[in-house]
Formats: sequence, structure tokens, C-alpha cells
Amino acid sequence: MARPRVLSGIQPTADSFHLGNYLGAVRQWVTMQETHDAFYCVVDLHAITVPTEADALRRRSRVAAAQLFAAGLDPERSTVFVQSHVREHTELAWVLICLTGMGEAGRMTQFKDKSAKFGESAASVGLFTYPILQAADILLYQANLVPVGADQKQHLELTRDLGQRFNHRFGDTFTLPDPYILKEVEKITDLQDPTAKMSKSSSSPAGILDVLEQPGPLRKKVMRAVTDTGSEVLFDEENKPGISNLLRIQSALTGTPIPELVARYEGQGYGTFKKDVAEAVLETFAPIRERTEKLLADEKELDRMLAIGAERASAVARQTMEQVRERVGFLPKL
Ligand code: TRP
Repeated sequence: MARPRVLSGIQPTADSFHLGNYLGAVRQWVTMQETHDAFYCVVDLHAITVPTEADALRRRSRVAAAQLFAAGLDPERSTVFVQSHVREHTELAWVLICLTGMGEAGRMTQFKDKSAKFGESAASVGLFTYPILQAADILLYQANLVPVGADQKQHLELTRDLGQRFNHRFGDTFTLPDPYILKEVEKITDLQDPTAKMSKSSSSPAGILDVLEQPGPLRKKVMRAVTDTGSEVLFDEENKPGISNLLRIQSALTGTPIPELVARYEGQGYGTFKKDVAEAVLETFAPIRERTEKLLADEKELDRMLAIGAERASAVARQTMEQVRERVGFLPKL
């Protein structure tokens, strides 16, 4: 039997992934390439839904791709590609946009949050249609499973709704995907504000651990992470959100269950614990950073790897779009 297909995407909107991206997405993607037919996409079309400078976009797309390979995605096993290289994404998005109700799109909470930041009238129509483009990314590849963060749940529901609507109206065409949401790492929070999600757009630099950051600054940030009153290393989300966040991080990075960590640091205070968390972060990030630097040093080779990914992705996307065109009623081009 064929392996189930997985598809996910990550935005090239920063000069490095952060710990939240790594634990919540990238590491998961690497694991899933062992058991799934995996498609992973650097979603540059999504990145331009907010004002983006061309050189920065080019740089960040390469940096994102390089980090994916550096983190362990194997170009032989996984199809790693850049969204804009496969024209069918925008083409299918248009068809799906025409199947989406204004009210339906207007209920997307992420749009509401993001547009509030710009002021509603300054937000682009592209930002409004962002979730529909995401639906196209997924449906195009007939994906069974989509590993995402909990904040993407609503977009996945929209994806299923649109796929179902198309199937109903034009005949069975799309596989309806299931979300795959990782509970344990849902809550990697800001080191300076442990009640807020670690996020590129809202965290301060001191609150974020970047994969490509040098060991010195990384260590400092962990040591300066906001902790709580008291001195015991205990998991207590309500009264000790800072320590609980560090415990989650340490546990995710080392594979040690949280209760075991709590027992290990009994009577030891925050300092020793934080030092170990910093070491775990460095041990994970340093080799990824080194491999990323190597990959970025040979742009031609990196672009060649991405061309292979785009070729493989295109073969699938083309097939789906041929069906879609025919079913929607577009004339064949002779
Ligand atoms: N919206 C996703 C995020 O911000 C990124 C994304 C774009 C995506 N297309 C996708 C995720 C397709 C999964 C599948 O995290």
C-alpha cells in the first residue's frame, strides 16, 4: 500500500526559524518523512500577504530551505520545494476563492488578528485570502495529513470545507485532509513573557531562541529567561509559567519526561536547571546552524536541490489541476 501523504508549509518571513518552529513543525516533519510520502513547502506566496522586500524574501526563502535540509529533511525521501515554483498553487487558489463565501472568509480569526495590527483597511486582500491559498497548497497534493500548530486548526477546517464543496459540485476530485496537531509542543512560550506564544511577530528578541543564533547569545537568553517566585523546579503552569515553559523545552529537546526532570532538579535551584536547558538548546541548534551555513555557502547547489523538489511537486500538482480545469469547465488548450 502507498504511504499516506503529508503536506505542510512554513513561511520564509524570518532570517532564522525559532525554537517554536523547530519543535512544533520542523522536527516533526523530519520524523514523518520516515513513514509518509512527504511534501514540504516554503510558502513564499503567503509571505507577500504582508509588505515584504524582494531581497529579504529571496534571502529568507533560501535560509528557510537550507534550515529544512540542515534539520534532517532528506531530498531523496522528502519533496522540499518553494511554493512559487509550482504555478498551480495560485491557479487552484483562484478556483477555491470563487467557491468561498465572503462571510466564511471573514470568520477566519487569524486574519482578524493580523489585520487588526495594520488597521483593517490597510490589510491586503491577499491577507484576507491567505487561508484559501493554504487550502490550495494542501488539496493540490491530495494530502491525507497536515502537521500544523493548534493555531492552524480553523484553516484546516476551511480546507476540508472547500475540498468537500468542490467534490460535491464538480465530482470527486480532492482528498479531504486531517490536521495533525502536536499537543506537547503547543505551548512553547516567550522566554520574557511566558504566558504568550513564542512568535516571530510578537516576541521581543530576548524572548525568542533562534536556531541560527550563536551559542553565546542563546545561552544568555536562557539564563535570563523570566522565572517565577520561589526557587524550586516544579511544573505548575498557573503559578510557575516560566519554569514550566523551560521544563517543556528541556523535555522536548532531551526526550526526558517532565516528572523525571522535576525529580532530577529537586533541591538544586533555578541556576543549575537553566544551565542544562541552555546546553540542550545548543546541542540541538549548533549542528543545524553549521549545516545551514554550509548549504547557504553554495547557493547554486541549494537552488538545484529546490529545483528537484519543484519538479516532483509539479508532477503531482499538474495532474490535480488538469482534473480541476476539466471539471470546472475551462476549455482544453490544444
Ligand atoms: N499558515 C501556515 C502557518 O503560518 C503556513 C502554511 C501555508 C501551511 N500553507 C500551508 C501549513 C499548508 C500547512 C499546510 O503556519
